[in-house]
Formats: sequence, structure tokens, C-alpha cells
Amino acid sequence: MYFPILRPRRLRSNETLRRMVREHHLRVDDLIYPMFVIYGENVANEVPSMPGVYQYSVDRLLPAVNEVVELGIPAIILFGIPEEKDEVAVGAYAEDGVVQQAVRAVKKEFPELIVITDVCLCEFTSHGHCGIIKDGEVMNDPTLEYLARTALSHAQAGADMVAPSDMMDGRVRAIREKLDSNGFSNIPIMAYSAKYASAFYGPFRDAAESAPQFGDRRSYQMDPPNSDEALKETAMDIEEGADIVMVKPALAYMDIIRRIKDEFTYPVAAYNVSGEYAMVKAAASKGWIDERSIVLEMLTGLKRAGADLILTYFAKDVAKWLQEG
Ligand code: PBG
Repeated sequence: MYFPILRPRRLRSNETLRRMVREHHLRVDDLIYPMFVIYGENVANEVPSMPGVYQYSVDRLLPAVNEVVELGIPAIILFGIPEEKDEVAVGAYAEDGVVQQAVRAVKKEFPELIVITDVCLCEFTSHGHCGIIKDGEVMNDPTLEYLARTALSHAQAGADMVAPSDMMDGRVRAIREKLDSNGFSNIPIMAYSAKYASAFYGPFRDAAESAPQFGDRRSYQMDPPNSDEALKETAMDIEEGADIVMVKPALAYMDIIRRIKDEFTYPVAAYNVSGEYAMVKAAASKGWIDERSIVLEMLTGLKRAGADLILTYFAKDVAKWLQEG
């Protein structure tokens, strides 16, 4: 059967009909808002390459989190910027580390909010790499204990979920075992499973002050042209105990989101990363694009690609726009 019997335009003729046959929806419950917490007091530094995104000290973080809660956003993911960095990332797993302090303060005031912590060493190492370095190499196996210790310290501070972003082999298992043997078998792991070595993280490294001081991350993060490998990484993370799997970045990797969604029966998160945010902000500030329409179209596209959850710096704007209808 074909035209003129079939006329797809019939169901597009007015907004009510379009609403009725709409296949995918962006909801506030899909959103996770990334936030940066820095040592010190009364600090709120706007990140130059990410307008509207701030590094907050713990005292200033609380009112910012309040806004997130008021908007009905269910979860935040926290990144920390410590006062001092060293070779073995002590600040990452210190009991009074900046993330641990922030988690305690946020959970005390907002017990219902899901507080996720990014588990990585790069913000806490003097060399800016996501693992322990020996002779200029990022060492896989020795790094696992540090990551596991970091995740445990976050759970002990009250984190609801941990999200390893380092891309070391075996880290999900190391973290799962550490949490389980310390009474935290109920804490889910959201694994950055298919995390690519991407140029889209540039602005984040300003925000988190985590740029590598030598070399790059291509020996641990995935090679952008690869697709089958993303399924292997995801399968490994699931076997090791991941509860949610993530694809990162989002927009240039929507095919990966779809493949993972089709292959596995696990919730899939997509990270709409800093460079994706910065590009939209820059073009919108010049009046070249309509920010609201572009953002809603991009994020709905991620849902259509198969994402169940979206980490995005646009979360607060989106929550407002969804409320306005
Ligand atoms: C830490 C980490 C990074 C991001 C999230 N966790 C940076 C990196 O791998 O260099 C990037 C997030 C973004 O760009 O918004 N490893």
C-alpha cells in the first residue's frame, strides 16, 4: 500500500494528534545534574567555557542543590576539586575530602535527592591521569585498590550511587567487592562503560582542573572509531556488577547508545558532556541558534537513541522548560 492511500501527514495535522502519536518523551526523571565542589568557603567560580556552571565550595553548594531539588530533578553527580594534589590522589579517598564533605552536607539537608559520586583519580593526582603512574605509564592493577577505596569512602559519607569514570580494566569488580565486603551491597554502580577518548571533554577539564599534565588518555579511554569494543566493555562491566551502564560523550555516539540498548537489558545513561554544552552555549550567545529548541531536540534525540537517563549541564533549564510545557 502506498500513496495516495497512505498519507503520513494525516497524523501530523495538528498538535493534539501529534501529541497522541508521539513515540518518545523527555521527562524530568530522566535527568542527572553534574555539579563541581571545590575546597574553601564562599566560593562560586563560574567556569569560563561553561556559562552557568560553577565550582562551589560546600557552603555555596547547598543553595545550588536546593534549586535542583525544587525543580524536581531526582539526582546529581558530584565532582571534586581538592586543595592539594599528589601522586597517589590522597584527596580522592580522604575521609574529610572535598567530595566526602559535600556528600555529607547534601544528604543531611536533602535526604531524598540521589547523590551520585564520580569515582576517578584525575582531579586528585598531580599528573592529572586517572590512575597511578610508574615510569610514565598508567598502571592498571595497582590503580584498582585506590578506586575501590575512593568508592568506599563516598559510600561511607552517604553517597547513594558511585560512578567509576577512570576506564581501568576490572574496576567495577574491584569496587563491587570493596563495597560488598564493607556492608554496602545495596549501593548501585553506574559504570562509565563506553567512555571514549574525546575532544568533547575540554571544558570539563577547566571545570575540574583535571587536564593530564603529560600525554593523553588514549591508553585507557576508548578509541573513537570503535563500536564492537563498546559492547565488550559494557558486557564486562555488567558481569563485574554494574547496575547502570553509560555511554560518553552522547551526541557523536548515538549509534553506540542504540547498540547497547538493543544488546543488554540494563538502564543506559548518556553523558551530554561539557563540549556539547559549550558548543550550544557559544552559538546561542551569538544568536545563531535557538537554545531551548536545540537542547530539547538533542536530549529527546538521546531518548530516541535508547538512553534511559541523561547526565546534562542543561538539566535545570530543561526542568524549567518542561514545567512551562
Ligand atoms: C573524569 C571525568 C571526565 C569527565 C567526567 N569524568 C573527564 C575526562 O575523562 O577527562 C568529562 C565530563 C564532561 O566533559 O562533561 N575522568
